Amino acid sequence: MHVLSLVNQKGGCGKTTAAVNFAGALAARGRRVLLVDLDPQAHATMALGWAVQDEPVLLEVLRGKSGVDEAAVAVPGGMWLLPASDDLAEFEEESGRLLNPESALRRALQTMSLEFDEVILDCPPRVDGVLAANALRASDTAVLVVETGAFALQGAVKALKILNKMREELEQPFEMRMLATLFDRRTRFARELLLAMHGRFGADMFDTVIRTSVRLREAAGLGVPVQLLDPASRAVDDFAALATEWLGRESCAPTAAPLDIPEGVHLHSTSNSWAP
Ligand SMILES: Nc1ncnc2c1ncn2[C@@H]1O[C@H](COP(=O)(O)OP(=O)(O)OP(=O)(O)O)[C@@H](O)[C@H]1O
Ligand SMILES: [Mg+2]
Repeated sequence: MHVLSLVNQKGGCGKTTAAVNFAGALAARGRRVLLVDLDPQAHATMALGWAVQDEPVLLEVLRGKSGVDEAAVAVPGGMWLLPASDDLAEFEEESGRLLNPESALRRALQTMSLEFDEVILDCPPRVDGVLAANALRASDTAVLVVETGAFALQGAVKALKILNKMREELEQPFEMRMLATLFDRRTRFARELLLAMHGRFGADMFDTVIRTSVRLREAAGLGVPVQLLDPASRAVDDFAALATEWLGRESCAPTAAPLDIPEGVHLHSTSNSWAP
């Protein structure tokens, strides 16, 4: 099981879009994927069409009141989601009273190492809170998502400084990678910025760049990964290329055909009577 988090303290740079659709691309390759929504805004949860009711969600897992297997649900695209609700923000306040609150997710995920191949963590737009700390402690790889827009390079350098400092304090530090998103190759500014990013970050950057695509916005609105909305779209091509690059990093060949999981089923439940 490999745990990868998508981070940046900058809001709206494409973290959630990358998390959901990269998860979709990996699931389409037959990887067993769990997407964890670590953002109280719950955008990844919404982007996969999940409406939280009374069932346990990530907050209960972090509190140690529920297992990942009880809270994870099957969502469109043949993957699993550990959903968030807006009361996830309460964990920031509660954490002062807990022992090792930054390690709660890592502990919870350790029990699932035989269940999943890839765990993708969608982080909130900050790197200093206890939720981001949980993500980074649980991660083997942290991917800094960088929008190819104004001030992106400055923001990325700043974020990297903070992340590198956090890494130094960890016993098992995560690997750092960079992913360029929201790329519009028609603009000279974006093309030049991409070159500058490659010059600055070198081999740490994914070769794959996620281009702007209206399909990604539409898919989020419909509550599905883009692979289900428009398999022929360039967004699907981009995330497939990212999956190829990611899976080629080591010997982790796709295991099987995509899993055919009925949606709305809890990971270890025997019935699918509960549905959103
Ligand atoms: N490649 C893309 N092409 C077109 N639209 C995109 C792309 N990536 C993201 N968007 C859109 O940009 C907006 C912000 O994206 P997203 O929610 O993924 O960012 P975020 O970094 O997760 O934001 P936050 O920091 O608030 O969590 C959304 O409306 C999303 O649909
Ligand atoms: Mg987000």
